[in-house]
Amino acid sequence: MKKNILITGSNGQIGKELTESFKEKNNASNIICLDLIKGKQNHFKFYKCNILDYEKLNSIFKKEKINEVYHLAAYLSAKAENNMNLAWKVNMDGLQNILELSVKYNIKKVFWPSSIAVFGEDATKTKTKQNEKTNPNSIYGITKVLGERLCEFFFKNYKLDIRSVRFPGLIGHKSMPGGGTTDYAVDIFYSAVKKEKFSCFLKENTLLPMMHMDDSIRAIHEIMNCESKQIKIRTSYNISGCSFNPKNIFDEIKKYINEFKITYKPDFRQNLAESWPNSIDDTEAKKDWNWKSNYKISEIVKSMLENIK
Ligand code: NAD
Ligand code: SER
Repeated sequence: MKKNILITGSNGQIGKELTESFKEKNNASNIICLDLIKGKQNHFKFYKCNILDYEKLNSIFKKEKINEVYHLAAYLSAKAENNMNLAWKVNMDGLQNILELSVKYNIKKVFWPSSIAVFGEDATKTKTKQNEKTNPNSIYGITKVLGERLCEFFFKNYKLDIRSVRFPGLIGHKSMPGGGTTDYAVDIFYSAVKKEKFSCFLKENTLLPMMHMDDSIRAIHEIMNCESKQIKIRTSYNISGCSFNPKNIFDEIKKYINEFKITYKPDFRQNLAESWPNSIDDTEAKKDWNWKSNYKISEIVKSMLENIK
């Protein structure tokens, strides 16, 4: 029987690629997209809906007989700092609406992404462990920590099968990022192929955990497709790709585009980046559901330049 899958935030950086990834799986499911803005995924049914509109969401769950949910609608770190009230509502009330409706309609499985932003300045920076302190400075990080606790609460109290990973900065060529601190690592490629000087909003030595979008989409499918009993962590799993700073990625791009130039003009996002880990320990994800990333920095750069060109 075909599954009826709801993807919220379907027009975002992850949403666009996730919906397409279901198409590549030979339309094994009915995909229902939901966002404030319609994307170009014309082959999928789309609902223009605010995640805060409980009644409209309720009617979609009912009408479409939804049985699996990927809840991606959110405000990312930089956008959240600039609009704290709305970020709080969308990230917290939006998640609560989805969790409540998932219980009401007996949804089989829910995916919700957390972030490396759950860690704050007091966390060990290198190979940050799963159970490291989560005392974030940013409003975004706070909504992610509380979101993780809310997911675990719904699992423990309502047996809702919700699964989650803490994504690092994501880099892909099929969609643009939506207002995060790691956006520079996508934007830089568009300047490089146009041979424009790139103005980087982070300092050259700001080391952050990153991941190719192919790895992140695969992580979503892998965690959603494993047996429920394999999922031992119901807050959110650390997952790791690779780590680099703006200078590292610039140097790697220069190997292909020798004339490429960069300047560094750090802004408010520098503080967010400095409060996050340099690298992530993902031992638990490896152990529980065999997680393994495929892309190193050299492969990310090669893939981005080949595809953007
Ligand atoms: P994005 O900003 O690219 O997309 C978010 C989408 O949500 C947008 O299309 C936006 O229109 C939609 N949206 C915002 N408010 C809405 C509302 N009120 N109602 C309905 N839709 C609304 O974000 P993304 O990068 O695709 O991130 C998706 C999820 O993954 C988020 O929870 C984010 O925190 C998490 N995440 C992303 C990254 C990353 O690097 N992209 C890293 C860690 C975690
Ligand atoms: N890439 C995300 C951001 O910068 C991390 O969650 O907001």
